[in-house]
Amino acid sequence: LESGCLSIIVLGASGDLAKKKTFPALFNLYRQGFLHPGEVHIFGYARTKISDDELRDRIRGYLLHDKDNSDLSEDVSEFLQLVKYVSGSYDSKEGFDLLDQKIAEHEFSKNSREGTSRRLFYLALPPSVYPSVCKMIKLYCMNKSDLGGWTRIVVEKPFGKDLESAEHLSTQIGELFDEPQIYRIDHYLGKELVQNLLVLRFANRFFLPLWNRDNIANIQIVFREDFGTEGRGGYFDEYGIIRDIIQNHLLQVLCLVAMEKPVSLKPEHIRDEKVKVLQSVLPIKDEDVVLGQYEGYTDDPTVPDNSKTPTFATVILHIHNERWEGVPFILKAGKALNSRKAEIRVQFKDVPGDIYKCQRQGRNEFVIRLQPREAMYMKLTVKQPGLEMQTVQSELDLSYGQRYQGITIPEAYERLILDTYVFMTYCVIFLCSTIPLRIRGDQQHFVRRDELKVAWEIFTPLLHRIDNGEMPIIPYKPGSRGPEAADELLAKAGYVQTHGY
Ligand code: BG6
Repeated sequence: LESGCLSIIVLGASGDLAKKKTFPALFNLYRQGFLHPGEVHIFGYARTKISDDELRDRIRGYLLHDKDNSDLSEDVSEFLQLVKYVSGSYDSKEGFDLLDQKIAEHEFSKNSREGTSRRLFYLALPPSVYPSVCKMIKLYCMNKSDLGGWTRIVVEKPFGKDLESAEHLSTQIGELFDEPQIYRIDHYLGKELVQNLLVLRFANRFFLPLWNRDNIANIQIVFREDFGTEGRGGYFDEYGIIRDIIQNHLLQVLCLVAMEKPVSLKPEHIRDEKVKVLQSVLPIKDEDVVLGQYEGYTDDPTVPDNSKTPTFATVILHIHNERWEGVPFILKAGKALNSRKAEIRVQFKDVPGDIYKCQRQGRNEFVIRLQPREAMYMKLTVKQPGLEMQTVQSELDLSYGQRYQGITIPEAYERLILDTYVFMTYCVIFLCSTIPLRIRGDQQHFVRRDELKVAWEIFTPLLHRIDNGEMPIIPYKPGSRGPEAADELLAKAGYVQTHGY
């Protein structure tokens, strides 16, 4: 069991990601007792020259701005007592020396009482500074405790812009840290219903025989946002919707939907299967792609007037293996659309020899709504209640809000940060009761280097064609469903519109 001092160092502490995601997640972990004041200290590091109190005020302002937290000002103040700030640049020995000194002071005071020291560096920074920051950590800030412990780093996407740049970045970081020390976050892997996917597939007899090309006609993995790139145009324009959403978030979901059963639940066994399914994806053909850009996107002053960056994309992937040959996987993502939603839609084939064909209203579909309002539902054909023998499409519905009332679903970042320093497992005692054990970091929900490489291999040729202006970008109205050509592509891929969609 690990005990002793835990230092969480948020690099880029004065930036947006830290303010909106990292500190709120840490605060929630604190409130649930996962960051114990007796053993944890949080250090913010950034270039901005501010004091501890100024950083605390910024974080306080943001945390209390959230209406769910408005009556938690005492908890917020207690949490902020754990936060200290060090200012320095991302390539300066002085800055990182000072950071090391502050961490060591804290470790010394704690370790004189307890044990090992653990240092978690969270890089809430643009990837361009990852190599220099990692080098500085390696040179000046590693855990030096004789009593053991570890140093880990957490990195955010975008991890590279294409295969070559991602591999270059991986090599640079890989020369400094071993793979078990590197936690590549894809926050979709922390979402409740994404974490449920393997349980659903492999712990239910229902799905085992159906989950294949014999029964499934097509699978859609969809991300829609009903707002544009407001305030992030500069970043977004460099990356576009495929790099921002599809190559990472949606592809990770595809892995869990399509992979084979792992040998066990060990993180490496699961990640091995994810890599295998990615390796089976065929090269993307131009006719399987529709790209769009919403009208008004270039009005953002940080976006060039002649930008050809897609804000919408539908891409069909084909998996060349025994289970999925011939089943299109339709990945669709768009900004400024008519709704905000992320879901997986598994559409089943028509019933063979269907005697209700003339009355049929649609195919069976199994829908997993990742957000908002987490739910799973199955679209079924049933008899319309009443005297007449009429069929109707209805739903078997597991809406989490109703079924799990009173249970708060954790934020993705909360769960993933916890995974970086706590591995929960259960020890059975006296055959009937269990106690939770906290052991070590769990990398199951983080992206391994080889996984990342294959993900880039799949999309890089298409991304290069888009970057070279070789692919048409269709304008669409903000608040619409996106380009009509995308619906035509769906129909071509065999998707049958079901009632109510
Ligand atoms: C981020 C993207 O990774 O995910 C954003 O950079 C996007 O563009 C966000 O808005 C969506 O996350 P969520 O959890 O709100 O679906």
